Amino acid sequence: MKSKCFFQFLLFPVFVFTFAVLFISCSKEQKTAPLTEKKADTLNKTEGSVNSAGKQLFYMKSKENNIACADCHGDGSNSANPLTKYFSDITAADKRTSTYHGKFTGAEVAKNAGGATVCWESYLKMKTPLTEDQIKSLNEYYSSLKSSSSVSEMKYETISLPVKDKAKLKEDQKIVMGLKGDPVKGEADFKNSCAFCHGENSTIKKVPSLFDEFDGNVKSITYNVRFGDGAMPFYKKSVLSDQEIADIAAYILKKNGK
Ligand code: HEC
Ligand code: HEC
Repeated sequence: MKSKCFFQFLLFPVFVFTFAVLFISCSKEQKTAPLTEKKADTLNKTEGSVNSAGKQLFYMKSKENNIACADCHGDGSNSANPLTKYFSDITAADKRTSTYHGKFTGAEVAKNAGGATVCWESYLKMKTPLTEDQIKSLNEYYSSLKSSSSVSEMKYETISLPVKDKAKLKEDQKIVMGLKGDPVKGEADFKNSCAFCHGENSTIKKVPSLFDEFDGNVKSITYNVRFGDGAMPFYKKSVLSDQEIADIAAYILKKNGK
């Protein structure tokens, strides 16, 4: 009797210790840290699945301005973000003969992850270029997407590429200035196409306010929308019409008391 009790007495602290160790390691695992650039980078190099490394990159928020590829481009599963309908779908982008409105053709397409090298530096504001590993991961991600077989070539109209066409911009500005904008329609369009960055609840960093001491006009708004500017993307005519720009401008200017 006496020796059995002594045995239990010895086992008790062993149990407590084991439970404590288990508890601590479990609670540590549950805390899933938000994905940082560093984490996506290590995943890219260490974790086996290339598809998931490409996907991580695609959804990674840049530390510079909090923008991710998935905020602008569709991959077939992120259509909840209204912005994705204004820019190309990235399914099979690596297999196109030409991307970024002819900026990249032939072998250059895959070498630039379908054009992502430009987006990486101009829209995500990354200070170091995409590495070869990251480009490979993105290409494999595009190809892995379900609808990839159906999207081969993208055709769209833009006056921002291959170079900013100033004469065409002048024509567009004249057209938009001649249209009567509807601020009610403009508010709805603004919510879909601009609020993600310029809206009150925007989480994107380094975006100027269009409602606080804004000194722009219909002409300058058309400039920004058709050409893009810095981290602001350009909008093709095929996705945002002249009338829609006039409506959005009417809304912005009305809210500014102009
Ligand atoms: C702020 C919005 C924005 C972000 C963020 C962005 N892009 Fe883009 N991307 C564009 C615009 C604008 C174009 C030009 C063509 C278009 O309108 O889609 C483009 C073009 C492309 C193309 C070429 C499509 C084609 O066939 O012409 C690919 C591929 C692409 N981006 C991938 C990416 C990847 C990957 C990322 C993240 C590293 C990224 N983009 C981040 C706006 C963005
Ligand atoms: C992905 C984020 C993003 C989206 C979406 C976006 N913008 Fe911008 N916008 C910016 C950034 C960043 C700047 C500042 C550009 C710079 O100077 O680098 C800017 C600048 C502007 C300016 C110039 C502001 C000034 O005070 O000079 C106007 C006008 C403008 N945007 C209008 C729009 C309109 C209209 C839309 C929708 C059709 C829109 N933007 C969508 C990011 C965005």
